[in-house]
Amino acid sequence: MATWMWLTALLCGSQAAVLPPPWADVRRNPCAAHPRGWLMLYWPADGKCYTIYKKGHPCPETQELSPGKWGGRTVAECKCPPGTAQLPHTTTCHKLFERGPCRQGEYFAPVEESFNKRGERQGMCVRPQQCADETLLYWPADGRCYYRLSQGPCYPGSILDVGDDGLANCTCDPDSPNFWSVDGGCYAHFTRGPCERGQLFLPGPRCGCETHMPHYHNDSGGCFELDSIGPCPRGHTFAITEVTPQGSKAECKCKSFHARALDGACYRLYTRGPCAQDEMIARGGRCTKVPCGRGRLYLPERRRCYRPGAGEPCPAGSVVAFDLDARPALDGLSHNGVCACSLGACTRREVETCTSRKGTAAYGGACHILNTQGPCPDGSWLVKESTGKIKCQCRPGRTPPECNETALVEVKS
Ligand SMILES: *[C@@H]1O[C@H](CO)[C@@H](O)[C@H](O)[C@H]1NC(C)=O
Ligand SMILES: *[C@@H]1O[C@H](CO)[C@@H](O)[C@H](O)[C@H]1NC(C)=O
Ligand SMILES: *[C@@H]1O[C@H](CO)[C@@H](O)[C@H](O)[C@H]1NC(C)=O
Repeated sequence: MATWMWLTALLCGSQAAVLPPPWADVRRNPCAAHPRGWLMLYWPADGKCYTIYKKGHPCPETQELSPGKWGGRTVAECKCPPGTAQLPHTTTCHKLFERGPCRQGEYFAPVEESFNKRGERQGMCVRPQQCADETLLYWPADGRCYYRLSQGPCYPGSILDVGDDGLANCTCDPDSPNFWSVDGGCYAHFTRGPCERGQLFLPGPRCGCETHMPHYHNDSGGCFELDSIGPCPRGHTFAITEVTPQGSKAECKCKSFHARALDGACYRLYTRGPCAQDEMIARGGRCTKVPCGRGRLYLPERRRCYRPGAGEPCPAGSVVAFDLDARPALDGLSHNGVCACSLGACTRREVETCTSRKGTAAYGGACHILNTQGPCPDGSWLVKESTGKIKCQCRPGRTPPECNETALVEVKS
Protein backbone atom coordinates (compact mmCIF):
# COMPACT_ATOMS: atom_id res chain seq x y z
CA MET A 1 0.00 0.00 0.00
CA ALA A 2 1.33 3.41 -0.97
CA THR A 3 0.82 4.74 2.55
CA TRP A 4 2.93 2.10 4.12
CA MET A 5 5.61 2.43 1.51
CA TRP A 6 5.92 6.08 2.41
CA LEU A 7 6.05 5.42 6.14
CA THR A 8 8.63 2.74 5.68
CA ALA A 9 10.74 4.96 3.50
CA LEU A 10 10.62 7.72 6.11
CA LEU A 11 11.53 5.46 8.97
CA CYS A 12 14.46 4.25 6.97
CA GLY A 13 15.64 7.80 6.39
CA SER A 14 15.20 7.86 2.63
CA GLN A 15 12.31 10.32 2.50
CA ALA A 16 13.98 12.72 0.07
CA ALA A 17 12.72 10.90 -3.02
CA VAL A 18 9.15 10.29 -1.83
CA LEU A 19 6.18 12.65 -1.65
CA PRO A 20 4.47 12.95 1.74
CA PRO A 21 0.88 11.69 1.91
CA PRO A 22 -1.91 14.31 1.82
CA TRP A 23 -2.56 14.20 5.54
CA ALA A 24 1.02 15.38 6.24
CA ASP A 25 0.01 18.79 4.82
CA VAL A 26 -0.92 21.31 7.61
CA ARG A 27 -3.71 22.83 5.53
CA ARG A 28 -5.37 19.44 5.25
CA ASN A 29 -4.47 17.97 8.61
CA PRO A 30 -4.03 20.31 11.63
CA CYS A 31 -1.93 17.64 13.31
CA ALA A 32 0.79 17.77 10.67
CA ALA A 33 2.47 20.63 12.64
CA HIS A 34 2.93 18.49 15.79
CA PRO A 35 6.19 16.61 16.37
CA ARG A 36 5.64 13.25 14.65
CA GLY A 37 2.44 14.87 13.40
CA TRP A 38 2.79 13.14 10.07
CA LEU A 39 1.84 9.98 11.94
CA MET A 40 -1.31 11.62 13.33
CA LEU A 41 -4.83 12.43 12.26
CA TYR A 42 -7.18 15.14 13.58
CA TRP A 43 -10.32 13.95 15.35
CA PRO A 44 -12.89 16.80 15.16
CA ALA A 45 -15.13 15.50 17.98
CA ASP A 46 -12.54 16.33 20.67
CA GLY A 47 -10.11 18.46 18.64
CA LYS A 48 -7.21 16.12 19.44
CA CYS A 49 -4.61 14.35 17.31
CA TYR A 50 -4.34 10.57 17.30
CA THR A 51 -1.80 8.17 15.86
CA ILE A 52 -2.95 6.59 12.60
CA TYR A 53 -3.62 2.87 12.26
CA LYS A 54 -3.88 2.52 16.02
CA LYS A 55 -6.73 0.34 17.22
CA GLY A 56 -9.27 1.60 19.75
CA HIS A 57 -9.88 5.09 21.18
CA PRO A 58 -11.12 7.36 19.62
CA CYS A 59 -12.40 4.48 17.46
CA PRO A 60 -14.42 1.51 18.70
CA GLU A 61 -12.19 -1.15 20.23
CA THR A 62 -11.52 -3.32 17.17
CA GLN A 63 -11.43 -0.54 14.55
CA GLU A 64 -8.39 1.54 13.64
CA LEU A 65 -8.00 5.21 12.79
CA SER A 66 -7.42 5.55 9.06
CA PRO A 67 -7.07 8.45 6.63
CA GLY A 68 -10.20 8.73 4.47
CA LYS A 69 -11.43 11.14 1.81
CA TRP A 70 -14.29 13.57 2.38
CA GLY A 71 -14.81 15.88 -0.56
CA GLY A 72 -11.27 17.01 -1.32
CA ARG A 73 -10.12 16.74 2.29
CA THR A 74 -8.43 14.03 4.25
CA VAL A 75 -10.45 13.09 7.31
CA ALA A 76 -9.99 10.55 10.05
CA GLU A 77 -12.19 7.49 9.78
CA CYS A 78 -12.63 4.41 11.91
CA LYS A 79 -12.25 1.28 9.78
CA CYS A 80 -11.79 -2.41 10.23
CA PRO A 81 -8.13 -3.40 9.74
CA PRO A 82 -7.27 -5.44 6.61
CA GLY A 83 -8.30 -9.09 6.92
CA THR A 84 -11.29 -8.16 9.10
CA ALA A 85 -14.76 -6.76 8.43
CA GLN A 86 -17.92 -5.64 10.22
CA LEU A 87 -21.56 -6.57 9.88
CA PRO A 88 -23.68 -3.70 8.50
CA HIS A 89 -24.79 -1.26 11.22
CA THR A 90 -22.20 -2.53 13.71
CA THR A 91 -18.69 -1.35 14.56
CA THR A 92 -17.08 -4.59 15.72
CA CYS A 93 -14.49 -6.10 13.37
CA HIS A 94 -14.26 -9.85 12.95
CA LYS A 95 -11.58 -11.89 11.18
CA LEU A 96 -12.61 -12.95 7.69
CA PHE A 97 -12.90 -16.63 6.72
CA GLU A 98 -13.45 -17.72 10.33
CA ARG A 99 -16.66 -18.25 12.26
CA GLY A 100 -16.57 -14.77 13.81
CA PRO A 101 -20.12 -13.59 14.57
CA CYS A 102 -21.70 -16.42 12.57
CA ARG A 103 -23.69 -19.51 13.51
CA GLN A 104 -22.00 -22.88 14.00
CA GLY A 105 -20.89 -24.17 10.58
CA GLU A 106 -20.90 -20.75 8.88
CA TYR A 107 -17.99 -18.42 8.20
CA PHE A 108 -17.58 -14.67 7.83
CA ALA A 109 -17.01 -13.72 4.18
CA PRO A 110 -16.12 -10.33 2.70
CA VAL A 111 -18.83 -8.42 0.84
CA GLU A 112 -16.79 -7.36 -2.15
CA GLU A 113 -18.74 -4.36 -3.44
CA SER A 114 -18.64 -2.62 -0.10
CA PHE A 115 -14.86 -2.44 0.07
CA ASN A 116 -14.71 0.77 -1.90
CA LYS A 117 -17.95 2.42 -0.83
CA ARG A 118 -17.33 4.67 2.16
CA GLY A 119 -14.17 2.66 2.75
CA GLU A 120 -16.11 0.31 5.02
CA ARG A 121 -15.09 -3.32 5.08
CA GLN A 122 -18.29 -5.31 5.36
CA GLY A 123 -18.78 -9.01 5.88
CA MET A 124 -21.60 -11.52 5.91
CA CYS A 125 -22.19 -15.04 7.19
CA VAL A 126 -22.17 -17.78 4.58
CA ARG A 127 -22.19 -21.58 4.53
CA PRO A 128 -19.07 -23.30 3.19
CA GLN A 129 -19.46 -24.78 -0.29
CA GLN A 130 -19.91 -28.51 -0.61
CA CYS A 131 -16.87 -30.56 -1.55
CA ALA A 132 -17.19 -33.90 -3.35
CA ASP A 133 -17.35 -35.91 -0.12
CA GLU A 134 -16.33 -35.99 3.54
CA THR A 135 -12.67 -36.71 2.80
CA LEU A 136 -12.44 -33.14 1.52
CA LEU A 137 -12.71 -29.89 3.44
CA TYR A 138 -13.64 -26.50 2.03
CA TRP A 139 -11.13 -23.71 2.69
CA PRO A 140 -13.00 -20.40 2.37
CA ALA A 141 -9.96 -18.16 1.90
CA ASP A 142 -9.20 -19.61 -1.57
CA GLY A 143 -12.50 -21.35 -2.29
CA ARG A 144 -10.91 -24.75 -2.80
CA CYS A 145 -11.35 -28.22 -1.37
CA TYR A 146 -8.43 -30.03 0.25
CA TYR A 147 -8.06 -33.48 1.75
CA ARG A 148 -8.63 -33.75 5.46
CA LEU A 149 -5.31 -34.41 7.23
CA SER A 150 -3.26 -33.08 4.30
CA GLN A 151 -1.08 -29.98 4.53
CA GLY A 152 -3.44 -28.25 2.08
CA PRO A 153 -3.18 -24.48 2.52
CA CYS A 154 -1.52 -24.80 5.96
CA TYR A 155 2.01 -23.95 7.04
CA PRO A 156 4.43 -26.89 7.16
CA GLY A 157 4.03 -28.61 10.50
CA SER A 158 0.26 -28.17 10.59
CA ILE A 159 -2.47 -30.05 8.77
CA LEU A 160 -6.07 -29.43 7.84
CA ASP A 161 -8.79 -30.82 10.11
CA VAL A 162 -12.29 -29.92 11.22
CA GLY A 163 -12.28 -27.41 14.08
CA ASP A 164 -14.73 -27.09 16.99
CA ASP A 165 -16.77 -24.69 14.87
CA GLY A 166 -17.27 -27.25 12.09
CA LEU A 167 -14.98 -25.35 9.72
CA ALA A 168 -11.63 -26.42 8.29
CA ASN A 169 -8.76 -25.44 10.58
CA CYS A 170 -4.98 -25.65 10.28
CA THR A 171 -4.01 -27.46 13.41
CA CYS A 172 -1.63 -29.89 15.07
CA ASP A 173 -2.82 -32.02 17.96
CA PRO A 174 -0.15 -33.96 19.93
CA ASP A 175 -2.63 -36.85 20.20
CA SER A 176 -3.01 -37.06 16.44
CA PRO A 177 -1.50 -39.99 14.48
CA ASN A 178 0.10 -37.30 12.29
CA PHE A 179 2.07 -35.81 15.20
CA TRP A 180 5.88 -36.09 15.06
CA SER A 181 7.22 -35.60 18.55
CA VAL A 182 10.78 -35.00 17.31
CA ASP A 183 9.91 -31.51 16.04
CA GLY A 184 6.39 -31.02 17.44
CA GLY A 185 4.84 -30.72 13.97
CA CYS A 186 2.05 -32.60 12.22
CA TYR A 187 2.49 -33.97 8.71
CA ALA A 188 0.33 -35.73 6.16
CA HIS A 189 1.11 -39.41 5.75
CA PHE A 190 2.83 -40.44 2.49
CA THR A 191 4.39 -37.02 2.07
CA ARG A 192 8.05 -36.29 2.81
CA GLY A 193 7.09 -34.30 5.92
CA PRO A 194 10.02 -34.17 8.35
CA CYS A 195 11.83 -37.11 6.73
CA GLU A 196 15.05 -37.33 4.76
CA ARG A 197 15.00 -37.32 0.97
CA GLY A 198 13.91 -40.72 -0.31
CA GLN A 199 11.78 -41.42 2.78
CA LEU A 200 8.15 -40.69 3.49
CA PHE A 201 6.23 -39.94 6.66
CA LEU A 202 4.28 -43.14 7.34
CA PRO A 203 1.61 -44.15 9.82
CA GLY A 204 3.22 -45.22 13.06
CA PRO A 205 4.42 -42.55 12.81
CA ARG A 206 7.82 -43.21 11.29
CA CYS A 207 10.02 -42.20 8.37
CA GLY A 208 10.42 -45.05 5.94
CA CYS A 209 10.34 -46.48 2.44
CA GLU A 210 9.29 -49.94 1.34
CA THR A 211 9.65 -51.59 -2.03
CA HIS A 212 5.98 -52.60 -2.22
CA MET A 213 4.76 -49.00 -1.93
CA PRO A 214 3.48 -47.26 -5.10
CA HIS A 215 5.84 -44.44 -4.09
CA TYR A 216 8.93 -46.65 -4.51
CA HIS A 217 11.38 -45.64 -7.22
CA ASN A 218 13.48 -48.59 -8.27
CA ASP A 219 16.42 -46.71 -9.82
CA SER A 220 17.15 -44.60 -6.75
CA GLY A 221 15.84 -47.03 -4.11
CA GLY A 222 13.89 -44.18 -2.49
CA CYS A 223 10.22 -43.33 -1.96
CA PHE A 224 8.73 -40.07 -3.16
CA GLU A 225 5.50 -38.14 -3.01
CA LEU A 226 3.15 -38.86 -5.89
CA ASP A 227 2.44 -36.10 -8.41
CA SER A 228 5.57 -34.20 -7.41
CA ILE A 229 8.83 -34.04 -9.35
CA GLY A 230 10.18 -36.66 -6.91
CA PRO A 231 13.41 -38.25 -8.17
CA CYS A 232 12.68 -37.30 -11.78
CA PRO A 233 14.54 -35.09 -14.27
CA ARG A 234 13.21 -31.68 -15.25
CA GLY A 235 9.73 -31.50 -16.81
CA HIS A 236 8.56 -34.79 -15.27
CA THR A 237 6.15 -35.82 -12.55
CA PHE A 238 6.40 -38.93 -10.42
CA ALA A 239 2.93 -40.40 -10.91
CA ILE A 240 1.07 -43.72 -10.94
CA THR A 241 1.48 -45.31 -14.36
CA GLU A 242 0.56 -48.88 -13.59
CA VAL A 243 -2.42 -50.15 -11.65
CA THR A 244 -2.51 -53.91 -11.00
CA PRO A 245 -4.30 -56.09 -8.45
CA GLN A 246 -0.85 -56.58 -6.85
CA GLY A 247 -0.48 -52.83 -6.33
CA SER A 248 0.22 -49.61 -8.15
CA LYS A 249 3.58 -48.31 -9.31
CA ALA A 250 4.65 -44.75 -9.89
CA GLU A 251 7.17 -43.75 -12.55
CA CYS A 252 8.71 -40.61 -13.91
CA LYS A 253 6.63 -39.39 -16.80
CA CYS A 254 6.54 -36.17 -18.78
CA LYS A 255 4.16 -33.51 -17.52
CA SER A 256 1.13 -33.08 -19.78
CA PHE A 257 1.79 -31.07 -22.94
CA HIS A 258 5.50 -31.89 -22.57
CA ALA A 259 7.74 -34.23 -24.59
CA ARG A 260 10.98 -35.97 -23.70
CA ALA A 261 14.00 -34.76 -25.62
CA LEU A 262 17.25 -36.60 -26.31
CA ASP A 263 18.81 -35.20 -23.13
CA GLY A 264 16.26 -37.12 -21.00
CA ALA A 265 14.42 -34.04 -19.75
CA CYS A 266 10.85 -33.13 -20.76
CA TYR A 267 10.04 -29.77 -22.29
CA ARG A 268 6.82 -27.94 -22.95
CA LEU A 269 5.75 -28.55 -26.55
CA TYR A 270 6.52 -25.78 -29.05
CA THR A 271 9.11 -24.08 -26.83
CA ARG A 272 12.80 -24.06 -27.69
CA GLY A 273 13.86 -26.55 -24.99
CA PRO A 274 17.37 -27.85 -25.74
CA CYS A 275 16.98 -27.17 -29.47
CA ALA A 276 18.86 -24.77 -31.72
CA GLN A 277 17.98 -21.06 -31.94
CA ASP A 278 15.36 -21.37 -34.69
CA GLU A 279 13.91 -24.70 -33.55
CA MET A 280 11.23 -25.93 -31.17
CA ILE A 281 10.28 -29.18 -29.41
CA ALA A 282 7.56 -31.02 -31.33
CA ARG A 283 5.56 -34.11 -30.36
CA GLY A 284 7.85 -37.06 -29.81
CA GLY A 285 10.54 -34.74 -28.44
CA ARG A 286 12.12 -33.97 -31.80
CA CYS A 287 13.60 -30.59 -32.53
CA THR A 288 11.93 -29.07 -35.58
CA LYS A 289 12.43 -25.77 -37.32
CA VAL A 290 9.94 -23.14 -36.07
CA PRO A 291 7.50 -23.03 -39.00
CA CYS A 292 6.21 -19.54 -38.20
CA GLY A 293 7.37 -16.12 -39.25
CA ARG A 294 8.08 -13.45 -36.65
CA GLY A 295 5.08 -12.67 -34.38
CA ARG A 296 3.00 -15.64 -35.56
CA LEU A 297 1.73 -18.52 -33.46
CA TYR A 298 1.64 -22.21 -34.30
CA LEU A 299 -1.72 -24.00 -34.08
CA PRO A 300 -0.89 -27.70 -33.68
CA GLU A 301 -4.37 -28.84 -34.82
CA ARG A 302 -3.95 -26.97 -38.09
CA ARG A 303 -0.16 -27.44 -38.36
CA ARG A 304 -0.01 -23.86 -39.53
CA CYS A 305 0.90 -20.45 -38.20
CA TYR A 306 -1.50 -17.59 -37.62
CA ARG A 307 -1.34 -14.00 -36.51
CA PRO A 308 -2.57 -13.47 -32.91
CA GLY A 309 -6.14 -12.15 -33.12
CA ALA A 310 -6.96 -14.03 -36.34
CA GLY A 311 -10.46 -15.53 -36.27
CA GLU A 312 -10.22 -17.89 -39.23
CA PRO A 313 -8.95 -21.14 -37.63
CA CYS A 314 -11.00 -20.81 -34.40
CA PRO A 315 -14.62 -21.52 -33.49
CA ALA A 316 -17.00 -18.58 -33.88
CA GLY A 317 -16.39 -15.84 -31.34
CA SER A 318 -12.85 -16.89 -30.51
CA VAL A 319 -9.50 -15.84 -31.93
CA VAL A 320 -5.88 -17.03 -32.00
CA ALA A 321 -4.12 -16.01 -28.78
CA PHE A 322 -0.90 -16.60 -26.86
CA ASP A 323 -0.87 -19.68 -24.66
CA LEU A 324 -1.07 -18.12 -21.21
CA ASP A 325 -0.34 -21.43 -19.52
CA ALA A 326 3.23 -21.40 -20.82
CA ARG A 327 5.44 -19.69 -18.25
CA PRO A 328 8.21 -17.91 -20.16
CA ALA A 329 10.57 -17.73 -17.17
CA LEU A 330 10.44 -21.51 -16.80
CA ASP A 331 9.57 -22.87 -20.20
CA GLY A 332 11.06 -20.22 -22.49
CA LEU A 333 9.11 -18.54 -25.26
CA SER A 334 6.19 -20.63 -26.51
CA HIS A 335 5.16 -20.70 -30.18
CA ASN A 336 1.92 -22.42 -29.24
CA GLY A 337 -1.27 -20.63 -30.23
CA VAL A 338 -4.66 -21.33 -28.67
CA CYS A 339 -8.19 -20.29 -29.53
CA ALA A 340 -9.48 -17.95 -26.84
CA CYS A 341 -12.65 -15.97 -26.49
CA SER A 342 -12.42 -12.55 -28.02
CA LEU A 343 -13.68 -10.09 -25.43
CA GLY A 344 -17.30 -10.70 -24.50
CA ALA A 345 -18.01 -12.65 -27.68
CA CYS A 346 -18.38 -16.35 -27.03
CA THR A 347 -19.08 -16.74 -23.35
CA ARG A 348 -21.38 -15.11 -20.94
CA ARG A 349 -19.81 -12.85 -18.34
CA GLU A 350 -20.53 -15.29 -15.59
CA VAL A 351 -18.63 -18.08 -17.27
CA GLU A 352 -15.78 -15.73 -18.01
CA THR A 353 -15.28 -14.71 -14.39
CA CYS A 354 -15.56 -18.35 -13.46
CA THR A 355 -12.76 -19.25 -15.85
CA SER A 356 -10.46 -16.50 -14.61
CA ARG A 357 -11.15 -17.14 -10.94
CA LYS A 358 -8.67 -19.36 -9.18
CA GLY A 359 -9.97 -22.79 -8.29
CA THR A 360 -13.03 -22.79 -10.54
CA ALA A 361 -13.78 -23.86 -14.10
CA ALA A 362 -16.71 -23.43 -16.44
CA TYR A 363 -18.42 -26.46 -17.94
CA GLY A 364 -21.81 -26.79 -19.58
CA GLY A 365 -22.48 -23.13 -18.98
CA ALA A 366 -22.09 -23.50 -15.21
CA CYS A 367 -19.29 -22.70 -12.79
CA HIS A 368 -17.73 -25.63 -10.94
CA ILE A 369 -15.16 -25.79 -8.17
CA LEU A 370 -12.00 -27.69 -9.09
CA ASN A 371 -11.07 -30.79 -7.06
CA THR A 372 -14.70 -31.54 -6.37
CA GLN A 373 -16.96 -34.01 -8.14
CA GLY A 374 -18.82 -31.27 -10.01
CA PRO A 375 -20.15 -32.69 -13.30
CA CYS A 376 -17.94 -35.81 -13.07
CA PRO A 377 -19.00 -39.43 -12.44
CA ASP A 378 -18.70 -40.93 -8.94
CA GLY A 379 -15.11 -41.50 -7.83
CA SER A 380 -13.77 -38.83 -10.20
CA TRP A 381 -13.23 -35.16 -9.70
CA LEU A 382 -12.78 -32.11 -11.86
CA VAL A 383 -9.18 -31.04 -12.51
CA LYS A 384 -7.57 -28.41 -14.71
CA GLU A 385 -4.56 -29.44 -16.75
CA SER A 386 -1.64 -27.13 -17.39
CA THR A 387 -3.00 -26.74 -20.94
CA GLY A 388 -6.13 -25.12 -19.47
CA LYS A 389 -8.34 -28.05 -20.43
CA ILE A 390 -10.55 -29.40 -17.70
CA LYS A 391 -11.24 -33.09 -17.27
CA CYS A 392 -12.64 -35.66 -14.91
CA GLN A 393 -9.87 -37.62 -13.25
CA CYS A 394 -9.87 -40.47 -10.75
CA ARG A 395 -9.53 -39.03 -7.27
CA PRO A 396 -6.32 -40.07 -5.54
CA GLY A 397 -6.90 -43.43 -3.91
CA ARG A 398 -9.51 -44.48 -6.49
CA THR A 399 -8.71 -46.60 -9.51
CA PRO A 400 -10.85 -47.76 -12.43
CA PRO A 401 -13.49 -49.20 -12.50
CA GLU A 402 -14.43 -47.41 -9.24
CA CYS A 403 -14.04 -44.22 -11.24
CA ASN A 404 -13.78 -43.21 -14.87
CA GLU A 405 -10.41 -41.75 -15.81
CA THR A 406 -11.35 -41.47 -19.47
CA ALA A 407 -14.43 -39.31 -19.01
CA LEU A 408 -12.88 -36.26 -20.66
CA VAL A 409 -14.75 -33.01 -20.59
CA GLU A 410 -13.50 -30.72 -23.27
CA VAL A 411 -14.12 -27.03 -22.92
CA LYS A 412 -13.60 -24.27 -25.40
CA SER A 413 -10.89 -22.10 -23.92
C1 LIG B 1 -7.82 -24.30 15.26
O1 LIG B 1 -6.55 -24.87 15.56
C2 LIG B 1 -5.82 -24.13 16.52
C3 LIG B 1 -4.44 -24.73 16.62
O2 LIG B 1 -4.48 -26.10 16.91
C4 LIG B 1 -6.59 -24.19 17.87
O3 LIG B 1 -5.90 -23.44 18.84
C5 LIG B 1 -7.98 -23.59 17.64
O4 LIG B 1 -8.73 -23.73 18.83
C6 LIG B 1 -8.70 -24.29 16.52
N1 LIG B 1 -9.93 -23.60 16.22
C7 LIG B 1 -11.11 -24.20 16.25
C8 LIG B 1 -12.28 -23.35 15.96
O5 LIG B 1 -11.26 -25.38 16.50
C1 LIG C 1 15.39 -52.62 -9.91
O1 LIG C 1 16.74 -52.33 -9.66
C2 LIG C 1 17.57 -53.48 -9.59
C3 LIG C 1 19.00 -53.03 -9.29
O2 LIG C 1 19.01 -51.84 -8.56
C4 LIG C 1 17.52 -54.23 -10.91
O3 LIG C 1 18.29 -55.41 -10.80
C5 LIG C 1 16.08 -54.57 -11.24
O4 LIG C 1 16.01 -55.17 -12.52
C6 LIG C 1 15.20 -53.34 -11.23
N1 LIG C 1 13.81 -53.72 -11.43
C7 LIG C 1 13.04 -53.12 -12.31
C8 LIG C 1 11.62 -53.62 -12.39
O5 LIG C 1 13.40 -52.20 -13.02
C1 LIG D 1 -17.51 -45.81 -15.97
O1 LIG D 1 -17.89 -45.99 -17.34
C2 LIG D 1 -18.45 -47.28 -17.62
C3 LIG D 1 -18.68 -47.38 -19.13
O2 LIG D 1 -18.90 -46.13 -19.72
C4 LIG D 1 -19.75 -47.47 -16.82
O3 LIG D 1 -20.29 -48.74 -17.06
C5 LIG D 1 -19.42 -47.34 -15.34
O4 LIG D 1 -20.62 -47.42 -14.56
C6 LIG D 1 -18.72 -46.00 -15.05
N1 LIG D 1 -18.31 -45.95 -13.67
C7 LIG D 1 -18.68 -44.96 -12.83
C8 LIG D 1 -18.17 -45.08 -11.44
O5 LIG D 1 -19.34 -44.01 -13.18
